[in-house]
Amino acid sequence: MWRLLCRKAPCGSVLHMVRAGYGGESGAALLTTPIFYVNAAPHLGHVYSALLADVQHRYSALCGRDTRLSTGTDEHGIKVQQTATALGLDPSNLCAAVSQQFRKMFDTMGISYTDFVRTTEVRHSQAVCHFWKKLEERGYIYKGTYQGWYCTSDEAFLSEEQTMESRDGEGNIFRVSAESGHQVHWMSEENYMFRLSHLRSELLSWLQTEPIYPAPFLRIVQQWLEEDLPDLSVSRQRSRVSWGIPVPSDSSHTIYVWLDALINYLTVAGFPDQNLATWGPSTHLLGKDILRFHAVYWPAFLIAAGLPPPKKLLVHSHWTCNGVKMSKSLQNVVDPMECIRRYTRDGLRYFLLRHGAPERDCDFTHHIACKLLNSELADALGGLLNRCTAHTINPEQCWPHYQCTSVPPSSQNDLNRLLGTVKELPGLVDQYMDRFQANKALEAIDSSVRCSNAFFQSQAPWKLYKGGDDAKAWGQSVLYLTLESLRLYATLLQPAVPGLAKTILDRLRVPNVSRTLKGNRFFVATSGDKCDFQGRTLGSECGLLYRRLEVEQK
Ligand code: MSP
Repeated sequence: MWRLLCRKAPCGSVLHMVRAGYGGESGAALLTTPIFYVNAAPHLGHVYSALLADVQHRYSALCGRDTRLSTGTDEHGIKVQQTATALGLDPSNLCAAVSQQFRKMFDTMGISYTDFVRTTEVRHSQAVCHFWKKLEERGYIYKGTYQGWYCTSDEAFLSEEQTMESRDGEGNIFRVSAESGHQVHWMSEENYMFRLSHLRSELLSWLQTEPIYPAPFLRIVQQWLEEDLPDLSVSRQRSRVSWGIPVPSDSSHTIYVWLDALINYLTVAGFPDQNLATWGPSTHLLGKDILRFHAVYWPAFLIAAGLPPPKKLLVHSHWTCNGVKMSKSLQNVVDPMECIRRYTRDGLRYFLLRHGAPERDCDFTHHIACKLLNSELADALGGLLNRCTAHTINPEQCWPHYQCTSVPPSSQNDLNRLLGTVKELPGLVDQYMDRFQANKALEAIDSSVRCSNAFFQSQAPWKLYKGGDDAKAWGQSVLYLTLESLRLYATLLQPAVPGLAKTILDRLRVPNVSRTLKGNRFFVATSGDKCDFQGRTLGSECGLLYRRLEVEQK
């Protein structure tokens, strides 16, 4: 079907079909986070995955686009089975408890998900069974013997080349996954196999649409596809893995947990019920450790089932602690709740988004977090708010009028510089968000905030008020420009720090309908147009925007 569609597409190319998808662009676009294993409590790395998706989702909404954001928990497989046994719990009780912890964590962090899926839900097992049957009908599933390495921690089948020898402290030799460093075990089992090897050319065509961001991850996947692409085992004997969805036609087998988990994206799209929603081009956000599953297996499964592969994969790197990946097994995880207590929810959101960079690993230290938050939220942004709303500067507590004719020749260059910066900012932020670079978008906003602060300081409106009429008029114009800059920054900051942005917009008394980017115009008074804000009174006082933190020593 997929091949057929590709050949019959009016525009004639595989690329066209991939871009359009055959579910069409109707309805809200689907953005997803990975679903989280329930064998451990949420840590900062998990929160980062969800947060990056949240900021993309909120930004789309700000631009007036209709998107859905799904998240959830990955509850099947041997890892969860083993953890439940070790804790003496029924797996379903463990799943319910930890899933609830993730949900609570995401609610506390302000993750604006529109669907939370659990792989133990009935709607999900229905989607998985339907999908399995589709793969079977289309000839992509056969019974064979899998012989090779299996990594339980990663729930991954690995070739000899993907493993290496390692030694423990006592000199014992064992094998590990070369990518994750987790131990692997030899396995020989009769399994159901998926004909992955038949899909190389379709996967290469999909890669031509450059669906993976940032680009270095695209190159990694291109390289994988140049290597051996063996068929994939997609079931485990039920006697070994009982905590999972049975193969529909053979209950002595359990469906491979990664096939089960990836289908969650279809479950939230309403699959297989076309009346709920169609599977259109989807965007998945994921950490680099699960790239192969999303960039090779997932598009291959979809193509095999006759469905369009993902539109975009947004891949992020990891948070490390002293250079080592944060993970439960290494016991070096940072507790997000503890960070919220220290920095507030928006403080933590800002730090993770601003300091984290999708293309490279970042080290988490409280020292760096405190310094960054003090400098950018407390001093720069909080300072700007204070400058233009404090009673000493703005005794009438209002938006003054801007007078084009009031600009003194000596200030023209400073004004041009400020207007140049603020006018190009929305476009810059849009480009960065489109390229999955929220960190750079925030950097651009911070640098504009500093530019506004510098402009205010250099023009010194508090001195201008003491001068003649012309000086006073320019003083009022400077105040207007500063308030208008702040309105722009707070509007753009809503996806990253919704609480702080709301505080500022409330203080500036910006009505809710004027808080989007769609149709919103800034600095219109500088072109001689009427700006509705002029003459309006400000909202009530909000106190300190962000309290300075005590900087922890390194
Ligand atoms: N259950 C699978 C995903 C299935 S999606 C169909 C899984 N779960 S996980 O809980 O281990 O990881 C979920 C997400 O958290 C992944 O995107 C992973 O990269 C991310 N992180 C886990 N540790 C991380 C860091 N230390 N830093 C940043 N993100 C990290 O994989």
